[in-house]
Amino acid sequence: MTGSRGRGGLDHVGIAVRRLAERIPLYRDVLGLALVREEVVASEKVRVAFLDAGETHVELLEPLGDAGPIAEFLAKRGEGIHHLCFEVDDIEQALERVRGAGIAVVGDAPRPGAGGCRVAFLRPSATGGVLIELSEKPR
Ligand code: CO
Repeated sequence: MTGSRGRGGLDHVGIAVRRLAERIPLYRDVLGLALVREEVVASEKVRVAFLDAGETHVELLEPLGDAGPIAEFLAKRGEGIHHLCFEVDDIEQALERVRGAGIAVVGDAPRPGAGGCRVAFLRPSATGGVLIELSEKPR
């Protein structure tokens, strides 16, 4: 990841897609965003592509198989916006605030995410329907 975004900024918008190869051309060739990298995130059972969107990024997520959170999302809802990711300085501290506010966290958190980050997801039932990812960059 490059850029000079401040902490607490919107790091990326996550979008669930059936196939990266089918959707990358829209963002790269039509909208003109640079494809930064592609990567497998085994813990989430996805292959992701990051595109540079100025102050933030677009993260396209393709499921690796029929299981995992993105496969389940696609089966239920089809392709579309999946989550918003905010960068945090210290994920343990951020999660303390989250839990202190009575907001449930998905699974064991923090866990390894894309780009060597440590990430956690907040349950949409506690956030007004938005899946929010918190991400701490590798130091
Ligand atoms: Co993400």
